Amino acid sequence: MSSSCTQNGSNREFVEGWTLAQTLGEGAYGEVKLLINRQTGEAVAMKMVDLKKHPDAVLSVRKEVCIQKILQDPHILRYFGKRSQGDIEYIFLEYAAGGELFDRIEPDIGMPQHEAQRYFTQLLSGVQYLHSRGVAHRDLKPENLLLDEHDNIKISDFGMATMFRMKGKERLLDKRCGTLPYVAPEVLVKPYHAQPADIWSCGVILVTMLAGDLKSRDVTDGDLRSPKSKRQCSSSDFSHPFDDSISRVYCSQPMPTMKNDVEADIAARGGGINRSTNNNSSFEARNGFCFSQPALLDDLILCTQMNQTQSASQNVFQRLVRRMTRFFVTTQWDDTIRRLFTTLDKLGYTRKINDDSVVTISTTDRRKLRLVFKAHIIEMDGKILLDFRLSKGCGLEFKRRFIKIKQILEDIVLKGPTTWPIAIATNSVP
Ligand code: ADE
Repeated sequence: MSSSCTQNGSNREFVEGWTLAQTLGEGAYGEVKLLINRQTGEAVAMKMVDLKKHPDAVLSVRKEVCIQKILQDPHILRYFGKRSQGDIEYIFLEYAAGGELFDRIEPDIGMPQHEAQRYFTQLLSGVQYLHSRGVAHRDLKPENLLLDEHDNIKISDFGMATMFRMKGKERLLDKRCGTLPYVAPEVLVKPYHAQPADIWSCGVILVTMLAGDLKSRDVTDGDLRSPKSKRQCSSSDFSHPFDDSISRVYCSQPMPTMKNDVEADIAARGGGINRSTNNNSSFEARNGFCFSQPALLDDLILCTQMNQTQSASQNVFQRLVRRMTRFFVTTQWDDTIRRLFTTLDKLGYTRKINDDSVVTISTTDRRKLRLVFKAHIIEMDGKILLDFRLSKGCGLEFKRRFIKIKQILEDIVLKGPTTWPIAIATNSVP
């Protein structure tokens, strides 16, 4: 099948028939975007990693792909395929229309107990499956738990995952990695068993779901059986070779170990890296299209892009991620920027705006860890949307800051039942 990249007014094609829609999230190495088949409304998430910008990601991407390929479970995000184009790696994954579990947790409150119980049962089922395949996730946290359109948990982001059991033989792990509040104490005292460490993280996720905060972890931090508690550690102790944000991930093992891990994984699966990465054809065959000319990867707001059948578009909109960290404002462009800047200055945050009207906001959270998030200023049908996304740091801390900013901007927040229906009503079909 031939592919084409066209730019036609507001419509941009990624490959023939597939429109590159909104950004779903931002990871350590790049963004995850939504691809939509205009005819069928089918949606696929596409993770992009620029290896030129992140040369240290080569092995971790290979490993992530190797591991995702062998996993098939209702509570694990499905992997569809991978494609390399120049320096960019494209990983095609199941689209989880319900967004992140983290979005269902209200800071300092949590969520209803029965909901937490349901999510937790599904999480444990997914983790049990992972462990049965000899895989440890090593970075379980609400931000890595996505929800499908039926509100079912999908464990995602296998960038830190590894094989801990091969041919029935367990190996102890010795890489310190994970996200600080969710990491089991023994991970700091290597070597450690993989399974209890993941289960610890599940326990912390349960506490977060029920309490909406990890205040108790401040106490637990002091209990860590590591030589140093969190506050005693220098950033170099926790520096991750791929990500300098100690708030998000720390991982002190040097790259050669990572390489050995990849090789061990591949050997365990009886396959080669090429075999694992050259999986495009099956994906293309299954999905009836080819990703041979990816281009036009600018961030787009999806609502201006649909030009096909109304039913497909509506279907897509209904399945859109329910983001809570965005709102429309009543002010025009310049006033919006002015008000946003005044608010950020008042809160003592550092801000920087780029040519695409994306404001990068930096601060430190209550634990003195770095928190970086972005405000995308988007004009849609004459209305201005402020869309906030976490870049680095704790998800709940980000949400607290979002709430604060929204409160200060209260007088210009466009009132309505919810944010998305406004977007749908004004932008569904051009
Ligand atoms: N954010 C990151 N990955 C995603 C996915 N696969 N589906 C929905 N939102 C996401």
